[in-house]
Amino acid sequence: MSQPTTGLGIDIGGSGIKGAPVDLDSGEFLRERIKILTPEESSPAAVTDIVARISDHFPETARGPVGITFPGVVQNGTIHTSANLDESWVGTDARALFTEAVGRPVRVLNDADAAALAESRYGAAKGVRGTVLMTTLGTGIGTALVVDGRLVPNTEFGHLEVDGHDAESRASSGAKERDGLSYSEWVNERLQRYYRVIEDLVWPDLIVVGGGVSRKAHKFLPLLDLRTPIVPAILRNTAGSVGAALAAAQGLEVP
Ligand code: BGC
Repeated sequence: MSQPTTGLGIDIGGSGIKGAPVDLDSGEFLRERIKILTPEESSPAAVTDIVARISDHFPETARGPVGITFPGVVQNGTIHTSANLDESWVGTDARALFTEAVGRPVRVLNDADAAALAESRYGAAKGVRGTVLMTTLGTGIGTALVVDGRLVPNTEFGHLEVDGHDAESRASSGAKERDGLSYSEWVNERLQRYYRVIEDLVWPDLIVVGGGVSRKAHKFLPLLDLRTPIVPAILRNTAGSVGAALAAAQGLEVP
């Protein structure tokens, strides 16, 4: 069977849940995406309700693949970590929950993994051989590793312990906001150290930086002193939804 050329992508994040139908040839949205704020109590029931609303909003996608990201480790559709959403997600079979909510099979994958798939197909890592490390800077730090075009799922380098701290608690853009840091303070006191540690451990050929703050990449990427080329993501905040739809179109099974 040939692969579908459109799909619905839904990106669950700490602050918003976004979705749009995606043209899988171009990696672009076919209609304006919708965004619903993540409820304060981000329980499985509350988030699943929003996923169903987003799916209902795009009835034209009703027969196609649906991909859904989650900001935590996802194996075989089950959530294993949930650093920035309700803890009761841990152990939840999200695939079963969402499949029931949208009335058709879904693929669930980590948000940074989805973003990396999208950047590899359509964006900053398109055609790049070797090891690409994607980092998404947001509420937390998401990471994904793509080796010669193949995703190694569920790397969690945002939780590396750096100088005695969980890295994302100091180096994410959420931490920058929380602590009122300027771009140069953020780079000099936190980001430089984080990226140096990770490049010394992974030795990637390219680092791609996504997440909302990548829109301001010109303000902080040039301040970093690294051996690895580091570039902003091209798809920016559409990457999660686009990658989710792409992953679902490629197959509903693991990873
Ligand atoms: C989670 C990752 C996720 C990242 C970005 C981290 O706290 O552990 O799985 O990719 O946040 O949302």
